[in-house]
Amino acid sequence: MKLIASRLRGMQDIIPGESEKWEYIEKVMKEQAKLYGFRVIRTPAVELTDLFKRATGETSDIVEKEMYTFNDKGGRDVSLRPEGTAGVVRAVLETGMHNQVLPLKLMYISSCYRYEKPQSGRYREFYQFGLEIIGGNATMADAEIIDLGNSIFERLGLKNIRLEINAICCEGCRDRYFALVKKFFELNKHLLCETCQSRVERNPVRIFDCKNESCKKVIRFAPLSLRYLCRDCADHFQFLKNYIDECGIDLTVNPHLFRGLDYYSRTVFEFIDDSGAEPLAICGGGRYNNLSKEIGGVKINSVGLGIGMERLLEVMKKQGAKFPENKPCEIYIAPLGGPARREAVKISHNLRKVGIRAELDLVGRFIKPQMKYANKIKALYTIVIGAKEMEDKKALLKNMASGQTAEIVIDDNFVENFLRLREELDKTAVSQIENQTENRAENQAKNQTENRAENQIESQTENQAENQAKNQVESQAENPAKNQVENQAENQAKNQAENRAQSQTEGQIK
Ligand code: HAM
Repeated sequence: MKLIASRLRGMQDIIPGESEKWEYIEKVMKEQAKLYGFRVIRTPAVELTDLFKRATGETSDIVEKEMYTFNDKGGRDVSLRPEGTAGVVRAVLETGMHNQVLPLKLMYISSCYRYEKPQSGRYREFYQFGLEIIGGNATMADAEIIDLGNSIFERLGLKNIRLEINAICCEGCRDRYFALVKKFFELNKHLLCETCQSRVERNPVRIFDCKNESCKKVIRFAPLSLRYLCRDCADHFQFLKNYIDECGIDLTVNPHLFRGLDYYSRTVFEFIDDSGAEPLAICGGGRYNNLSKEIGGVKINSVGLGIGMERLLEVMKKQGAKFPENKPCEIYIAPLGGPARREAVKISHNLRKVGIRAELDLVGRFIKPQMKYANKIKALYTIVIGAKEMEDKKALLKNMASGQTAEIVIDDNFVENFLRLREELDKTAVSQIENQTENRAENQAKNQTENRAENQIESQTENQAENQAKNQVESQAENPAKNQVENQAENQAKNQAENRAQSQTEGQIK
C-alpha cells in the first residue's frame, strides 16, 4: 500500500485502544481541577505570530527555531500555538474576563506545535493540559497550582515524581541580576558552546538550560538568582516553600532552573520523572506577572502550569499505572432478513435512548460471522431475529458468559423486557459462577483429602515393604554370623571332648 501522504514526522495518530487512555487522564485532570474551582477555556490553535514573540520572547528557542509560522490567505503573519498561556491571556484581555471577579481559574487541553527534533517524549504536535490562575497575586496561588498539579499525578497513580523549584527575580531585582549574569558569561564566553556564545548578548539566563558539558562547567560558577532576590521575592519564595510543605509535597530547590520562556518572574517549577535514561519534565510552570502588560493589556499578576499529556501517558505506562476497562457492548442484535433489520434498528435505537450500549449488524453478515463479531466485541447479551422470530414476536436472549437463554417478547416494551430478563439471567449467571466456584473449591478439597490418604497408604505400604526387606536382609546377614559362631563353639566343644577322651584312653594304655 502506498498512500499519497503519510503522517508528518513528530506527529501522532491517537487510535482506539490508546484514545481511551487519553480520555481517562483528561477526565481525571478535569475532575481534579474542578475541585479547585477551575473552568474550561478554549482558544484558537492559530494566533498572530507577534503574540508569541512578545509573550515567550524574541530570543526564546520557541520563537527563534520552533514555530510553525506562515502567511494566511489574507497575508497575515500567523503561527500555530507553541504553548497555551499566551493565547489564554490574550483571550482574557480581549473578552474582558479580567473585569469580572478575580482570580480567574482557567484550564484547557490544547494541541501545541513546536518544530523540534522528534524523539521519545518530544513531538512536533503535542497536547498540554494547562492551568492558569489569572489575577492570583498571593503566594498561595503559586502553592495552589503546584498542589493541584501534584494531586493530579497522585490520582493517576504516578510515583517518584520530583518537584524542582527556583526563584528567578521580579521586575524590581531582575535588572541588577541579569547584568551580573551577562558580565559573568561575557568573561567566560570562550569556554561556552557556539549556541551559548550567541546567547550571552541576547539572553544570558538561557545559558543555564544548556546541557553541553563545557557550558555546564561554567554554569557551576555563575551567579545564582537566589542570592540576588529583593526582600519581596525572598519572602515570596520562603512562603511558597512553607505552603508546599503544608501540602506534604517534597521539593528540591534547583538554583539553575530558569525555563526557556521570557514571561516568567519569581516562581518557576518543574515536575520531573527520573525513570528513563534522561530526566523528563512532565510539567512546567511558574508566575508571569508581566505577560498581560507585555501583550498590550493591563498588568494582571498570574501563575500557571502546563502538563505534557504524551509524556504523562508514557510515564504512566512505564510505571504500570492502571487504566479503567471500557464499557462493554451490553447487547448485540443479529437480524436476518429485511423485516428483522428494520426491527433491529428500532430496538437498538430505543435501547440507546435509555443509555444501554447496543450494537447491531452494520455489514449484512450471515448468522455465523455475526456471532463471531459479537464474541469479538465481547457482547454481554445477544439476540438473533430471523423470519420465525418476527412471526412469533419472540426471540432468545442469550447471556454470553453463562450460555443461559430466556425468551424475550419483541414488542413496544422491548427495553423493559430486556432489563427484566437481563436481571434474571445475570442472577442465574452469578449463582452459576458461585456454584462453579464452590464446586471447584469442593473438588479441590476432596482431591487434597484423597491425595493425602493415597499418599499415606502409599507411604505405609512402602514403609512396610521397606521394613520387611530390611529385616530379611538383616536376618540373613545376622544368621550366617550366628551360625558361624554357634558352629565354631559346637565344633570346639566337640573337639575338646574328643581330645579329652583320647588323652584319657592314651593315659589308661600307658
Ligand atoms: P513548557 O515547559 O514549555 O511550558 O511546556 C509544558 C510541558 O509541555 C512540558 O513540561 C512538557 O511536558 C510538555 N512539552 C513541551 N514541549 C514538548 C514537546 N515538544 N513534546 C512533548 N511534550 C512537550 C509551557 O508551555 C508553559 N505554557 C506552561 C505554563 C502555563 N506556564 C504557566 N502557565
